[in-house]
Order: sequence, then C-alpha cells, then structure tokens
Amino acid sequence: MAVIPVELAGRSYEVRVAAGLLADLPQQCSPRLRKRRVPVITDANVFAAWGAAVEHALHEGGHEAAWRVLPAGEPTKSWEQLAQTTDWLLAEEVERGDAVLALGGGVIGDLTGFAAAILKRGCQFIQLPTTLLAQVDSSVGGKTAINTAAGKNLIGAFHQPALVLADLAVLDTLPARELKAGYAEVVKYGLLGDADFFAWCDQNGAALLAGDAGLREYAVAYSVAAKARIVAADERETLGLRALLNLGHTFGHALEAQTGFSDRLLHGEAVALGMVLAARFSAARGLLPRASAEHVARHFAALDMPSEIATLALNCDGHALTAHMLHDKKMDAGALPFVLLKGLGEAFLAKDVALEEVASFLDEQLRR
Ligand code: NAD
Ligand code: GLY
Repeated sequence: MAVIPVELAGRSYEVRVAAGLLADLPQQCSPRLRKRRVPVITDANVFAAWGAAVEHALHEGGHEAAWRVLPAGEPTKSWEQLAQTTDWLLAEEVERGDAVLALGGGVIGDLTGFAAAILKRGCQFIQLPTTLLAQVDSSVGGKTAINTAAGKNLIGAFHQPALVLADLAVLDTLPARELKAGYAEVVKYGLLGDADFFAWCDQNGAALLAGDAGLREYAVAYSVAAKARIVAADERETLGLRALLNLGHTFGHALEAQTGFSDRLLHGEAVALGMVLAARFSAARGLLPRASAEHVARHFAALDMPSEIATLALNCDGHALTAHMLHDKKMDAGALPFVLLKGLGEAFLAKDVALEEVASFLDEQLRR
C-alpha cells in the first residue's frame, strides 16, 4: 500500500492507495466511525457495483450503512441535491465529529464534501474515490462545489477530507471511456512538472489503461504525491502554484461549455484536448518547440483519446469558445491567466494572454 500524506497545518490527512481498501473499510477508517450507523453518500451506478461490498465490510466491523443513493451524473451537483443531502444528514443526526463517507467519482466527492463543509459549520468526511479521475485529482486537496445556472463549480468551499482511501479494485468496473478520461489527469502531472513522468506515460499508458495493476498503483500514487505537494504549498490557490493544476482546463472548460457539459465530451476528455491546445498555443507563441506540442497530441491519439477539436464538429468559431472563458472563475481583474508550457514538464502561469489572440488560434484549430 502507498500512503501519501497531505501536509496542512492542523488538517493533515493521508491518502492510501491499494487494491482491497473497501473490503477493510472499518479498520481503515478507524477510529473515525464513532457510531453504529455510518452515512454513505453514493450514486446509483457505484451503488450497483460496490454497494453490497461496502455494506458487507461495514457489517463485519459492527456497523450499519445508512445509504443516500443519488442519480449518477453532473446534474447531481445542484442546490436541490445539496439541500436534500444536508437535510438527510441532519435527520441522520450526524455530529461534527462524525465522518460522512463519499463513495463515488468527482460528482459525489464534490457534493458530499460541500455538504460536510456546511453541516453544523463543518463535519468530517472521508473520500472513497471510485473513478481514476477522483483518485488522482478531485478527492485530494479539499475543493468542493456544486453547479448553478451561472456555471460549473461556482458555489463551493475548501474543506479537506479527514482521509482518502483510493481502492484500485474499484477501477475494474469503471467504463473504459471514464478510465481514459481520468488518465488525462494523470498525464497532466507529467506535462506540468515532470518530463520523466510524461515519458513514463508514453511507455506505459496503454498497458495501464488495459488493466495492469502495478502500473495503475504507480500512476495513482505518483499523481496523488504530486498533487499533495502542490496543495501543501498553496492550499487556497493564491500563490500561482496550485493554479498550474489547471493545465488544459481553461481551453477544456470552453469545450465542455460548448458541448453543454454533456456526455458528448467528458471532463477528462476536455482536459486532454485542452492540454493539446495549451501545448500548441505555447508553440504558436514561440515558447515550446512545435514537435513537443505535436508529441502531446500524438500521445492521446495513440490511446484513441480525443486530440483534435475539429473532430468534435462544434459548429462554432473561436470567439464562441472564448466567450465561455469570460465566465471562468479564474478571471482576475478582467484578465484570464493561462497555464502554458515552456517545455514538456515545465508549466507556468501566463497573465498576458489576450482572448482575441486565443480566438484566432482556436479558429485555426477548428479548421485543422
Ligand atoms: P462522475 O463522478 O460523474 O463519475 C463518472 C461516471 O462513472 C458516473 O456515471 C459514475 O456513476 C460512474 N462510476 C464511478 N465510479 C464507478 C465505478 N467504480 N464503477 C462503475 N461506474 C462508476 O465523474 P468524475 O469524472 O469522477 O468526476 C467529475 C467531476 O469531478 C466534475 O463535476 C468535476 O467538476 C469534478 N472535479 C473536481 C475536482 C476537485 O478538485 N474537487 C477536480 C477535478 C474534477
Ligand atoms: N483540480 C484542481 C485543483 O484541485 O486545484
């Protein structure tokens, strides 16, 4: 088992990565499960795949699961589900010192984390991430949020989990498309800060996606350790370091918005495309060799992942995409910082990018 500490004054916690952690749930969570009834929030797909196993593990430890099973999918991150979930936690008589379990992908982790942040001004929660994306990114670092009519993740709080248990066995039931979407966030850690890890992804990405257990463990543990270092240094994203985790996200967010945040383009797929665009835009600005930018595109194409926005048939121009960026929550005094690359493994925050320049660049990309 890999154990990665997230060091935060007074709020440090561990991320444990191994196959079989859910089967050992009560012991792993000890001593945080104080009551017999343990609140577990999940979605319908995860409940179908892993509900019985979690129920059994809790029962073996002398507990009983109190289930809240939400619809799967992004619309669950809503005011309505937040209100109903907090009402449910109150009805379950959850106290500040109790731990609420979030069993699911980023949707369940973000909603449960936010509910925990505001319940009685903050109660504990434990992340049990069940997607690759949640294991390597969303379950670590304490960003919690819901979506509103004005946009995604605009209402939320920083609220760190008490513990994260990334059970690699749950990835066996994850649809292949979701696994690939999560893999984009793994590659992100290489592109933003470690050329050797990007080279490792080049070598091992296909086998990892095909199910090699050792490679999965290495990739998840590496990614969590990379994220933990960044979160420990810049928890609230105020120092320009945590912002590097947004590599590919500003371009990707515009693509997600243009496709209606729908199954047409998953978040991780948008991030993969966004990283290709960030690399090509960096090359267009003379920061990165063009060959390096095309290396990023080839990496994803070789794994049958989206790498060209022209194939999305977006039916819009570059200005339509930059219009979505105007609503980005990273907007600062009317300017949008972009994470760009001056090398594979060398990301930096550029604050001098005009959206007009981005729109022209995207026009070219849409025609490729
Ligand atoms: P998700 O939670 O919607 O899960 C994807 C799909 O996989 C769902 O249909 C789910 O039911 C299913 N699923 C999950 N685990 C499964 C399993 N083991 N077996 C079978 N099916 C399973 O999506 P996601 O990609 O995990 O997360 C996306 C969300 O995460 C977005 O809302 C995004 O904004 C958020 N996010 C948050 C952060 C953060 O730092 N808080 C970071 C990145 C993304
Ligand atoms: N997913 C980006 C962050 O946690 O900051």
